[in-house]
Amino acid sequence: MINIVIKRLAIMIMIILGIAVIGASHAYAVDPPHNDTSTDTWWCTQCHTLYGVGTALKTPKGNSARCLSCHTTTGMASNKPFTEADEAVPGTSGIYHRWDSGPGGYITSSTPGGSTGYILSGIVYTWNDGDTVTNNLKNIFFNGSVPRVYEIKITTEGNIGTAQFQWRSSDNSGTTWTAWSANQATATSFAFADGNNLKVSFVNGLSPSFKLNDTWTVKVRPQINYPFTYFDNYANLTKKMFKDTGAPNDILDVDTTSYTYPASTYGKASCSTCHNQHYQTNMSNDPFSPSTYDSSVPFSDGAGRHYQRIPNQQNELCLDCHSKRNINTVRTWTGNKLSHPVGVDFPSVNTSTHSVPKEYTGVDQSNKATSGKATATTNTTCLTDTAKDWTNTSNSYYNPTNLYVYLLGSGLSKQITSYTATQVCWASGALSITSGDAYVIDADGNPTNNFRFYDSSAGKASFVQGKVYCLTCHGIHWADSDQLTYDEGQ
Ligand code: HEC
Ligand code: HEC
Ligand code: HEC
Ligand code: HEC
Ligand code: HEC
Repeated sequence: MINIVIKRLAIMIMIILGIAVIGASHAYAVDPPHNDTSTDTWWCTQCHTLYGVGTALKTPKGNSARCLSCHTTTGMASNKPFTEADEAVPGTSGIYHRWDSGPGGYITSSTPGGSTGYILSGIVYTWNDGDTVTNNLKNIFFNGSVPRVYEIKITTEGNIGTAQFQWRSSDNSGTTWTAWSANQATATSFAFADGNNLKVSFVNGLSPSFKLNDTWTVKVRPQINYPFTYFDNYANLTKKMFKDTGAPNDILDVDTTSYTYPASTYGKASCSTCHNQHYQTNMSNDPFSPSTYDSSVPFSDGAGRHYQRIPNQQNELCLDCHSKRNINTVRTWTGNKLSHPVGVDFPSVNTSTHSVPKEYTGVDQSNKATSGKATATTNTTCLTDTAKDWTNTSNSYYNPTNLYVYLLGSGLSKQITSYTATQVCWASGALSITSGDAYVIDADGNPTNNFRFYDSSAGKASFVQGKVYCLTCHGIHWADSDQLTYDEGQ
């Protein structure tokens, strides 16, 4: 906690000092890799703009486009690229968890008429006296039992109040629709009269904002709540749910610190909801992440922890919005309709149930090559690890032939073709491991697809034992949503 405070103070001081400090070299105010220790090019102003020379930084609040400017195939983070078109549509397409959706779903539009107004979607919720943030935010969710698509069509052109629209909905991705509603008046808050808690806010653009026959769709999924785990600090996910400008804030100042929730019930998760792009203090659910964080040297440590907004060893992050899937009872065949076996212990050795599906566990998963050969990429190459004896039959990692060496962080792997006591070697190709590099031995050369569990005895994620959590089965990015992923009527 202390080191976070120090860091935040440092950041504030730098903001006060303004451009002089922002331009300075070799001062690191964000943890790696979001600081460029070699070229000094990744700096506050890579992501922030200034209000004016020497004045405060403008916060790129909720602006996922800012992240995408580098996280693209041609950007600085080209090996970790993201594309909006690849956001998940469960059952249809996509490889990324959405960064433009919330409990009220996300919006697409078709505006050949040229509407400049737009629409936001949210959840109907009236804050009552006695409600508390911790207890009540989780009650802000879409009440339907299956994913629903709403379509809105402008029937009378104009600005809010004058413009009229009709709406209809579909529970099978648009195969069949309800009848169009009667004409409705556009408003800053319009609740659909189907009892499922969904509302929209029309936001004016240039007059007339809403043009005839232009349409918007709201796609919303059930069982997703507003994040409710309350921390009165920057780690509060709710405070990092973002809306575009223009929507009314309908949950005001509900806590004692006079903080106005920025996103209200129109909140959407953006990259910065799940990530704190400045700090690596929190552990992730990735067994390859460093399990320690050196707080004594500010802004220098933690690369590989994936900038988690809150600790996520036990998928705390997921549970904040998906609490309804956190039911630690296994579904049985007796007719009870429960949920995923979340939180259930998965034994490391086969008892009466399955054992952990390990791909390869012969080698400790976080090796460091003690010395290696940095060879030309076209040559046969080897790595040396004096901590190992690959020839000793009593070692579990004896004889690694035909397994793969995978260089962490690179996505590169090569099949092992030969070994000695302290070396494994592979055929020529683009893999070069130098001293200090972290590597793993893996059965198919892709350790990111290995099942992971939460090992409570070690207090971190593990490939070999522990409890089942969301990320045991789901990938948050670079996953596959191209399967039928919803059982109607759950
Ligand atoms: C990788 C992009 C990126 C870099 C680099 C970056 N920021 Fe940020 N920063 C953001 C985003 C996005 C937000 C808004 C979301 C949030 O609050 O996390 C933000 C929010 C902030 C905030 C307000 C939120 C809070 O935690 O109180 C401050 C202050 C801040 N940044 C300062 C800085 C300073 C100073 C630097 C340079 C030392 C810096 N940032 C570097 C992306 C970045
Ligand atoms: C719903 C939460 C969520 C959202 C939204 C989200 N991320 Fe992530 N992201 C995660 C989690 C959790 C991990 C760590 C996964 C793990 O433990 O393996 C992660 C990992 C990453 C990684 C590291 C992956 C790797 O292979 O090293 C990058 C890069 C990343 N996210 C960038 C982004 C960007 C850019 C966006 C927005 C376009 C984004 N994330 C949106 C939750 C999220
Ligand atoms: C100025 C360029 C730049 C911007 C803007 C940027 N990133 Fe990154 N980011 C990088 C680079 C470079 C890496 C390292 C990629 C690699 O491993 O090769 C990285 C890595 C990451 C990682 C993985 C870090 C780890 O420890 O595993 C996450 C998570 C991430 N970025 C999230 C974000 C988010 C969220 C934003 C927007 C707020 C953002 N980035 C904006 C350049 C950027
Ligand atoms: C800030 C809230 C929030 C957090 C945190 C969050 N999610 Fe989600 N999640 C959503 C929303 C909103 C959707 C619905 C996306 C849409 O509209 O299609 C969603 C959809 C999903 C889906 C279905 C879409 C797909 O990708 O196929 C999965 C699976 C999922 N989340 C898993 C996770 C996991 C695993 C984590 C933790 C790493 C997580 N979520 C964290 C809000 C969140
Ligand atoms: C045992 C494997 C497993 C675990 C553990 C698991 N899931 Fe799932 N999840 C699946 C499968 C398979 C599906 C697709 C079938 C379905 O919809 O039931 C799915 C579907 C989903 C969907 C629905 C996508 C849609 O169509 O709307 C969400 C959201 C989701 N999971 C989130 C989570 C979260 C959050 C956790 C942790 C609390 C979790 N899952 C744990 C396997 C798992």
